[in-house]
Amino acid sequence: MRGLKGKIAIITGAAGGIGKATALRFAEEGANIVVADFADGSGTVQEAEAKGVKAVYVKVDVTSEEQAKAMVAKAIEVFGKVDVLINNAGITKDAMMRKMTKDAWDAVIGVNLTGVFNCTSAVLPYLLEQKSGVVLTTSSIVGIYGNLGQTNYAASKWGVIGMTKSWAKEMAKNGLRFNCVAPGFIGTEMVKKIPEQVLNEKIIVKIPQGRLGEPEEIAAAFAFLASDDAKYINGTVLSVDGAGTL
Ligand code: CAA
Ligand code: NAI
Repeated sequence: MRGLKGKIAIITGAAGGIGKATALRFAEEGANIVVADFADGSGTVQEAEAKGVKAVYVKVDVTSEEQAKAMVAKAIEVFGKVDVLINNAGITKDAMMRKMTKDAWDAVIGVNLTGVFNCTSAVLPYLLEQKSGVVLTTSSIVGIYGNLGQTNYAASKWGVIGMTKSWAKEMAKNGLRFNCVAPGFIGTEMVKKIPEQVLNEKIIVKIPQGRLGEPEEIAAAFAFLASDDAKYINGTVLSVDGAGTL
């Protein structure tokens, strides 16, 4: 890989889990980072800066159009440009369909789908102006195949794939690239909420590689897709799931 030296990357949901691992991987590759999260991201900033790059924390709720715009404005103020946006902030509110409330539907769609719209809309004027840029979004194995108890989440994660493909068709000619990574089940706080019995007896047993993935394994996919090595990869979905989709 040729690295991300000097690139400016906004990573949402970077206070922990996959977003934090991605921020640290990007820092190792030489990128400067905007750690964007509504949870405290100062830990990610410290660890990224220890790798010799500049990082800044921006408190943002991606469900707010205004806050998404302010996040991008801060990135421009500090770094003067943005090269990469990683739409990674996400939540679950699982329930079987017959028990799923409208509130649980709205909450998940608000963060996982509308949040991606808000952040991408906010950064686009800058990317279009500079005629270069990469927008990567965290989809999920659940977006491709569905999952018990995840009507809201599956809809949001399938939705971001459709958005990504549409954006590639609209704006590849402007020098921009849009791709998704679709992780399988990764060992973060999100997966810790799954009832232990369901996780062990219904989920892990179906993963051909026999284990959960690690956040760093998703970060590696983002680093590749953001790099110039992926410069002809546009509008696609990279599954990183231990063969879980087979
Ligand atoms: N896969 C397969 N079977 C599942 C399942 C799953 N994901 N979730 C539940 N089941 C099964 C249960 O084992 C149970 O089976 P039995 O009747 O044979 O015992 C049955 O469905 C009913 O489950 P519960 O008794 O737990 O029903 P509930 O109404 O109390 O709770 C639930 C339902 C909230 C969906 C709960 O089971 C649950 O949280 N399941 C996990 C859902 C899940 O997989 N979430 C993924 C979160 S991580 C993530 O989303 C990241 C990503 O992108 C991959
Ligand atoms: P996580 O819960 O560790 O991290 C999610 C981060 O998003 C948190 O830091 C949280 O504060 C932030 N966040 C949530 N709502 C926000 C909002 N409205 N505004 C700003 N930040 C917000 O979970 P994880 O696993 O790291 O998830 C990251 C992404 O990966 C999510 O989009 C998730 O759906 C996706 N994913 C996770 C998988 C897994 O198995 N862990 C598998 C497939 C996809």
